[in-house]
Amino acid sequence: MLVLGIETTCDETACAVVRDGHEILSSVISSQIDLHNEYGGVVPELACRRHVDILIPVIDEALAKAQISLEAIDLIAVAHEPGLIGALLIGLNAAKSISLALNKPLIGVNHVEAHLYAAYMSQSHPIAFPCIGAVLSGGHTNLVQMHAIGHYTLLGQTVDDAIGEAFDKVAKILGLPYPGGPQIEALARHGNSKKYPFKPGNVKGRPLDFSFSGLKTAVLYTIKGQNLNGLGKEASKEALSEKQYAIDQSDKCDIAASFQQAALRSVVDRALIAARQCQCDTMLLGGGVTNNQALRRMLSEAAPQLKLLWPSAGLSLDNAAMIAGLGYHHYRQRGPDTLHLQAQASKGITQRV
Ligand code: KG4
Ligand code: ZN
Repeated sequence: MLVLGIETTCDETACAVVRDGHEILSSVISSQIDLHNEYGGVVPELACRRHVDILIPVIDEALAKAQISLEAIDLIAVAHEPGLIGALLIGLNAAKSISLALNKPLIGVNHVEAHLYAAYMSQSHPIAFPCIGAVLSGGHTNLVQMHAIGHYTLLGQTVDDAIGEAFDKVAKILGLPYPGGPQIEALARHGNSKKYPFKPGNVKGRPLDFSFSGLKTAVLYTIKGQNLNGLGKEASKEALSEKQYAIDQSDKCDIAASFQQAALRSVVDRALIAARQCQCDTMLLGGGVTNNQALRRMLSEAAPQLKLLWPSAGLSLDNAAMIAGLGYHHYRQRGPDTLHLQAQASKGITQRV
C-alpha cells in the first residue's frame, strides 16, 4: 500500500511517500527556520503563509522523488493534531482535496504519536511490546507505556514548557538563534556542567511528570545576576523578553552545559522509574531533542539494561514519513476517516488513565 503523508503542524512543510508503513520512497522536508529566525521563535501567521505557498510544490517533489503518480497513491495520511491551528488546516484541507478529487481514502494522524512511530519505523526488526515511549520535542514532552501501535497509557507529561521549548528559551536568553537545542548542545560541549547547580523541576505527587519553566527561570536569574523573585509575574515576563545579556563566552558554555545536564537528567530519571514501574526493557524515543548526543550518552550509561530505540536521521525532527507510516497502521486498524475530520490544536497521545 502506497501512502502519501502530509505534515504542516508547525514550521516544517513536509510530504513523503511510504510503502506498507515502513519503506520510505521519498521524504521531502522544507524547513522554515530562515523565516522565523529573526523573531526567535515560530510566528504562526508567517508559518501559515509559507505552508500555503509551498505545500503543493513539496507534494509534487515527494511524488517525483518516489517516481509515483498521485493516481497510484492508495491512502492520504495527514497530521491533523496537535499543532498551530492555521497550519494544521492547510495540510488537512490539501489532504481532503486530494482525497475528494481522486477518490482516495483519508486518514488523520496524531503528530505526537507519529514521533514515537518514527523510532519504530527506524528499526529493521519488529519490536516487542509493551515498551516505554518518550516524546521529547519542541511542543511536547510525554512519557507513555506503549502496548501496541495506537494503544498507549500516558505515564507523565510536562506541566509547563516542553523540553525542546526550554532549550529554545534558554538559547534565546543566551542570545543564540532559533532553534536553540543544537546551539545549546554545541556550547555545552565546551562547558562545565557542574558550574551551576540548576535543578530540574518536580511535580508534587506525580513523579513521572516534567516541569521545565523553573529551570529556564533559574538560568535567567543566574544571567541577570539578581533574583527577580518578588518583582511579580509581569516583571519576569518583561525580563524574559529581553533579547540579549552581556555574558562572556566561557560562562555561556558553562550555563549551557549546566542547563542541559539538568534538563536531560530529568528525562533519564523518569525513564528509569517508568521502565521499572512498567517492567519494560525497551524504550522508543522520538522528537527533535533525541538528536542530542549527550542525551543518548546519559541514557545509555544510566540504563544499560534498557534497549534504547532512537529515530534514524531525517526521522527525529518533524517529517511526513512518520505520518504516512503511522497512517498505514491506523487505516488497517480502523479504516478511513471521513471528510468531517477536524484539526485540533491541542491533543496529546492519550488521556491519563
Ligand atoms: O520534534 P520537533 O521537530 O518539533 C516539534 O514537534 O516540536 O523538535 C524541535 C525541537 C526544538 O525545540 C529544538 O530546539 C529541539 O527539538 N532540538 C534539540 C536538538 N535538536 C533539536 N534539542 C536539544 N538538542 C538538540 N541537539
Ligand atoms: Zn514534532
